[in-house]
Amino acid sequence: MTEKEYLQSLPDSVRGMVGKPDGERLQFIRQQKFIRYQKAETVLKRMQELMDEPKKERMPALLLLGDSGNGKTSIARKFVEMHTFEPSDPNDYFEDEGDLPVLFVQAPIGPNASDLYDNILRALDVPSRRDSKSVKEGQIEHYFRVLNVRMMIVDEIHNILSGTVPKKKEFMNALKNLSNSLQIPIVLIGIKDALNAVNTDLQIRSRFKPIMLNRWGFDKEYLILLKSIEKTIPLKKPSLIYRDERFARAILDRSNGLFGEIMGIISALAKEAIVSGREKMAYDMLKNLDYAFLSDDDILLEEL
Ligand SMILES: Nc1ncnc2c1ncn2[C@@H]1O[C@H](COP(=O)(O)OP(=O)(O)OP(=O)(O)O)[C@@H](O)[C@H]1O
Ligand SMILES: [Mg+2]
Repeated sequence: MTEKEYLQSLPDSVRGMVGKPDGERLQFIRQQKFIRYQKAETVLKRMQELMDEPKKERMPALLLLGDSGNGKTSIARKFVEMHTFEPSDPNDYFEDEGDLPVLFVQAPIGPNASDLYDNILRALDVPSRRDSKSVKEGQIEHYFRVLNVRMMIVDEIHNILSGTVPKKKEFMNALKNLSNSLQIPIVLIGIKDALNAVNTDLQIRSRFKPIMLNRWGFDKEYLILLKSIEKTIPLKKPSLIYRDERFARAILDRSNGLFGEIMGIISALAKEAIVSGREKMAYDMLKNLDYAFLSDDDILLEEL
């Protein structure tokens, strides 16, 4: 691939950055962007199907499982973003004011339904007071209807595993009741152990269809991913990691197959390519990779 062909293969937004100063390019690399891959598309599609289900008494639900750092929350946030109205014209804003199609909340630490309600009310921007559980339930139902919420995502559901069995049951029942009374589908997200949370009750287990986000292995999907990631990085020369088996395998081994780590390693390689002036990522850079860059990056992302 010639340099010219390589530059032409980059998306406009990335090609436009190639000639920019190093500092700007490093900043660009640090910005979070969602990279599409087959499994993520499958999950997004499943979520959309779930959201489009006609309202009924027993709404189906989804349980998205996977190891920590493998991209579960990123997919959920992408889904939220896909359903967030972005006013191109500030005057457009009022047209969709009030609609919140997908509500994203964190599970509380411990299976406490009242804490879950607080998290939901906070996500709805409703000031929560020391009200009783049933008052909070009423508020949630009211605001879900007003804001036209059509799906609720509860992340970090494994948080509730620390509690006693009766408490876990009570918590899962609260979720089930919300889903029933509002007739909206729920997506739960967590590490594999979270499966135990839905196993508290047969009725709940039968409703939550689990879907696994497996770690990456050395296969075609992974090579396509490497190619996609490379296209998000404004370097002057092609690195073509996906064509270099030794390089591609070394990154996978170091990452333990986790998306976050793969991204971190490639970001660090891209930084090295810019700072060293070599303008391409190379296998020998793996030896002395600057991992400080990674932790910086993680802090930045946590704040989003
Ligand atoms: N599709 C993607 N595009 C770009 N970056 C991604 C993508 N998926 C994951 N990442 C990167 O990987 C990191 C970890 O992903 P994420 O936080 O989504 O994992 P997780 O499965 O929710 O982990 P945890 O169980 O610890 O919450 C993210 O901070 C992000 O940098
Ligand atoms: Mg997460």
